[in-house]
Amino acid sequence: MNSDLFKTAAAAAAKAYAPYSRFQVGCALLTVQGNLFTGCNVENASYGLTICAERNTIFHAVAEEGPGMKIAELAVIALGFEFPPCGACRQVIAEFAGPRVPIWFLRDGKPVSMTMAELLPASFRI
Ligand code: THU
Repeated sequence: MNSDLFKTAAAAAAKAYAPYSRFQVGCALLTVQGNLFTGCNVENASYGLTICAERNTIFHAVAEEGPGMKIAELAVIALGFEFPPCGACRQVIAEFAGPRVPIWFLRDGKPVSMTMAELLPASFRI
C-alpha cells in the first residue's frame, strides 16, 4: 500500500476537534481520479452531531470531485488507539467504494487492510 496514505492520515488526526472523547482520528483517501483528500473527526457539545474522520473526508472529496467520486484506497488512524471504521462510516464508504477496495487501519501497530466487502458484507444499496 501507499504508506504515505497513513502518514497523511496521521497528520490529519493531529487536527481533530475532539475535546469530549479525546480520540483524535484522521483519514486519508485516494480517489480513482488520483486525488488525495484528508479529514479528521469534529465533535460537538451536542454529542450526536459529531462527524467521524472518514465521513468528513468522503464528503469533502465529493464536494471537490462531484457525485462521480470513487474511492481507490482509504486509510484511517487514531492517535493512541487502534480501530477499524465504525459501522456508520462503513456504510458511507461502501457508497463510494467497490467491493475490492482496500480499507487500511492499524492492528497491533501494523497497517492491515480489509476489502470493502469484508468490512461490510451485504451492505444496503438501492
Ligand atoms: N470516530 C471516527 O472519527 N471514526 C470512526 O470510525 C469511529 C469514531 C470518532 C468519533 C468521535 O469523535 C470519537 O472518534 C470517539 O468515538
